[in-house]
Amino acid sequence: MTTTEKPASLISTLPGHYYTDPQVFALEQAHVFEDMWFCVVRSGDLPTPGSFKKVQVGRESVLVVRSRDGGLRAFLNVCRHRGAQICTEDSGAVKRAFQCPYHAWTYDLEGKLIAAPNLTKMPDIDRVEYGLVPVHLREWLGYAWVCLAKEPPSFEDDVVGAIGERLGDVESIDRWELDSLTVGRRITYDVKANWKLIIENFMECYHCATIHPELTEVLPEFADGYAAQFFVGHGAEFGEEVQGFTVDGTEGFDKLPGVAEDQDRRYYAITVRPTVFVNLVPDHVIFHRMFPVAEDRTIVECDWLYSRDVVESGRDVSRSVELFHRVNEQDFAACERTQPAMSSRAYANGGVLVPSEHHIGAFHEWLTQRLSG
Ligand code: FES
Ligand SMILES: [Fe+2]
Repeated sequence: MTTTEKPASLISTLPGHYYTDPQVFALEQAHVFEDMWFCVVRSGDLPTPGSFKKVQVGRESVLVVRSRDGGLRAFLNVCRHRGAQICTEDSGAVKRAFQCPYHAWTYDLEGKLIAAPNLTKMPDIDRVEYGLVPVHLREWLGYAWVCLAKEPPSFEDDVVGAIGERLGDVESIDRWELDSLTVGRRITYDVKANWKLIIENFMECYHCATIHPELTEVLPEFADGYAAQFFVGHGAEFGEEVQGFTVDGTEGFDKLPGVAEDQDRRYYAITVRPTVFVNLVPDHVIFHRMFPVAEDRTIVECDWLYSRDVVESGRDVSRSVELFHRVNEQDFAACERTQPAMSSRAYANGGVLVPSEHHIGAFHEWLTQRLSG
């Protein structure tokens, strides 16, 4: 055996520079975040016409807006005159139009150019042609997903399909009725790690016994190191004594009405490439959106979604939130501990995956293929 051959139980990870090289990150911005369906906003965060949110998608600033017909639209946040950013605030509401702060070109909520100084003296300007540049947008599960590609990939294959593949069928997710749920808590994490470390960590449970004492108490099978995602359709079962998906295993809330009996007392984890994790438990949903900002920094927005009744009645969600908040902090600390070592000569050729992590190899293959495309 030469020193480069690996025992059959180990396969290689990506080399370290994939997590540190700004050029790799630039390729990911172009071929992953801009070219795929990228989940940006909870639809309910834009309640009325004129509500907007500014989000970063790859290299572009994008405005997501509730338009007058009640639907959501997205535009590049770039004035068609001389390119000033239309919005600099992260979110807010305008009455009926966006006005560029530079020379006051003004666009309606559908992106059309409706006013500009001396515009009537330029009758040859087509107001739609010189409107804001639209971006593809789809709403699903109560979130807006955008795609900057000219020809977006199939939403049904890439997003709906990823969930169907994991749960065993695409209809299962409907039982949680995510679009009717309400955000009970949102926590934003500023993680000093590459987004792929966060995905890879989410995909495996080899670390669960080491770093997630509360989670393995609620889901004893996680102590074996096999992630729920390892088996199609499998949901990890709550421990016998456990009453609910809470930090101390005490009772949670009523099961959401659509959740089937055989999905009760179970936890399902789903990765939707490139940046979304969905966690399903009987009484709530934990929904992660990643916003990679640099090769070594990722903002993660995590929503805890409950039935409207639970949130509007003011019931205390803190024990329920605390469980996954601790899991998040434990996971992100592990990713931050890993990031600095990615540039070490010890990791120049990468590390290894044990059998319960081998499925991460498919993620690496997928990524390298996208970057080469
Ligand atoms: S750059 Fe926007 S109006 Fe001139
Ligand atoms: Fe974890």
